[in-house]
Amino acid sequence: MTGNANQGTNLDPWYGSYAARTAGLAASEVRALFAVASRPEVVSLAGGMPFVSALPTELLTEAVERTVRERAGVALQYGSGQGMPQLREQILDVMALEGIRAGVDDVVVTTGSQHALELLAKLFLDPGDVVIAEGPSYVTAITVFKSFEGEVVHAPMDDGGVNPQALRETIARVRAEGRTIKFLYTVPSFHNPMGVTLSWERRMEVLEICRTEGILVVEDNPYGLLYFDQPAPHAMRSVEEDGVIYLGTFSKTLAPGMRVGWAVAPHAIREKLVLANEAAVLSPGTFGQTVVSEYLSTADWKGQIDTFRGVYRERRDAMLSALQEHLPSLSWTTPNGGFYVWLTLPPELDSKAMLPRAVKELVAYTPGTAFYADGGGRNAMRLSFCYPTPDFIREGIRRLANVINGELSLVSEFSKTAPLQIRPAQDSDRVLPPNIG
Ligand SMILES: Cc1ncc(COP(=O)(O)O)c(C=O)c1O
Repeated sequence: MTGNANQGTNLDPWYGSYAARTAGLAASEVRALFAVASRPEVVSLAGGMPFVSALPTELLTEAVERTVRERAGVALQYGSGQGMPQLREQILDVMALEGIRAGVDDVVVTTGSQHALELLAKLFLDPGDVVIAEGPSYVTAITVFKSFEGEVVHAPMDDGGVNPQALRETIARVRAEGRTIKFLYTVPSFHNPMGVTLSWERRMEVLEICRTEGILVVEDNPYGLLYFDQPAPHAMRSVEEDGVIYLGTFSKTLAPGMRVGWAVAPHAIREKLVLANEAAVLSPGTFGQTVVSEYLSTADWKGQIDTFRGVYRERRDAMLSALQEHLPSLSWTTPNGGFYVWLTLPPELDSKAMLPRAVKELVAYTPGTAFYADGGGRNAMRLSFCYPTPDFIREGIRRLANVINGELSLVSEFSKTAPLQIRPAQDSDRVLPPNIG
């Protein structure tokens, strides 16, 4: 045990031993509430869990059986720090659907794309370095960047994704403050948490800005193939190889339990990613990689993505029509893919303060502040339509509307009560003890 001055200020006897950077790893204030929200009677619109029950169980069982029976020598053994060559080859086919041409050597398999984010933070961030990220941004990316003592500065978004002019201004402001920008982190397709998509024109503009400013782009694309009406524009990596690190994952198009994702990076960065991957996990899980590879070789994986699209489209429709029915005066985004709707509340409401009341009314959501590093998003929330069935979604929105309307009438009741009349101070108010001036 160390003799650190912090010792004894916390129930954890090792409190004083942690590295300074762990200060960024504080548990969310709403975590305890989410434990309650996972009870079956609560309609949770909070999490981003894919609906894995829509997967072909038979085919997956066969893939697992074949993995054990026929490929145990590989699947149960340590593997390459870059990932299995056969799977990397198959990943090229997946990325081709979004216009990306790359070589097998360009791909590094990671333990989900979350781990790729962690490796990138480790490779690029010194304390105080800035990551520009959309405002709002994926909550656990913010956590990772902060855990390496990076600072997240948001570039504002609108219904068309990150606003290029706002991005230019944000870069200029950060640089004028003398701070170092390490990369732009963006989720251009079916954004988490806003659900919106960056148009092709904006993608080109953002790339141009970053090229001119010498800023690397980290393009995180877990949802791109899960479109409802029209496909998302091609990935930014499809036109820019040198300035973009692309992240993909099988978590949303297959299953997050596999923990198989990947990064495609320019040559020198890729070499460092492999070394960092080896230092972290020796090799990404060979069992999961083999099962995914077997699945891709034998199942109609594109057909399965179509199935997921149908499931999520129906749920998106249920959420949008329920919002229209129960909360017509509010505004929300209309996602053309992915898992999320971003709901904006009247400015007088605070979604985090309202959450305990919502959970009591048996509905949960994620408060907007979770997606900002700077306290923004107070009067907004993320609603996920990926997991609950359409009926539950409708019931959840009905309950949410009750909570919001209840809160609004409370606010208007308070504003009706006459404000306290404050008259100018008079001498008789000066009830100071006689011995003081
Ligand atoms: C934008 C974004 N990036 C990364 C991840 C992490 O995904 P994975 O399961 O591949 O680690 C998620 C998961 O929800 C996500 O929404």
